[in-house]
Amino acid sequence: MNYAVVIPAAGQGKRMQAGHNKQFLVLEERPLIIHTASVFEQDPWCKEIIVVANASEIYDMEELFKEWGIRKVKQVVVGGNERQNSVHEGLKCLIPEHQVVLVHDGARPFVEQADIHRLVEQAEQTGAAVLGTKMKDTVKRTDGEKVLETIDRSSLWAVQTPQAFQAAVVTEAYDYAAAHQIIGTDDTSLVEYMGRPVKIVEGSYDNIKLTTPEDMVVARAILQKRREGKR
Ligand code: CTP
Ligand code: MG
Repeated sequence: MNYAVVIPAAGQGKRMQAGHNKQFLVLEERPLIIHTASVFEQDPWCKEIIVVANASEIYDMEELFKEWGIRKVKQVVVGGNERQNSVHEGLKCLIPEHQVVLVHDGARPFVEQADIHRLVEQAEQTGAAVLGTKMKDTVKRTDGEKVLETIDRSSLWAVQTPQAFQAAVVTEAYDYAAAHQIIGTDDTSLVEYMGRPVKIVEGSYDNIKLTTPEDMVVARAILQKRREGKR
């Protein structure tokens, strides 16, 4: 099996309050984007990485990939205003011969190879698949003040990235969304808009997105756990 991955990293990282794009935040000596890109650099199924960045950060990212030996990055391209626009720009750069295409947030450094492989196999069969975890919290729908209902948790999943697609499906979904001015909440939702099936693949609670400063504490704990596990 083989796949290509588009990594959107063209955000501002506002909620992280680091004063700069969180992709450059250093965790155990390596910048966040290098942690994330390394997962794919080391996966033999991954044949090509496209990174989407802010125009002013392209040079710095390219230098980081050279410095850290990330050789599968074929291009660092300029993103757009919304994440979906950034992903679309990345998809346009892919060479067409990959079986499966993944989209994975630059801000999710802890995804594991075994989960990626199960996801890729499912996407190849179904057309589209997404990693997720079962909800731990009880979820209530409210009007802002009053509780309207308690939703049956057994059917609820929190979705993550990577989100994976047969190559033809992802191009069609993003072109369809652009033509109909649809902004989806995640990548596979664009496939849902076309009425096509999307499968959920159970992933790990460690595959967090680093969004707010508290997430950095969890990130350091995950890295420490992995270091100790290796000893
Ligand atoms: N992203 C992107 N292009 C955008 C917005 C986001 O490529 N226009 C990327 C981010 O760099 C990140 C991923 O999409 O890797 C998920 O987005 P999020 O966690 O929201 O990151 P930011 O948008 O950078 O953070 P914030 O919303 O707090 O500003
Ligand atoms: Mg954002």
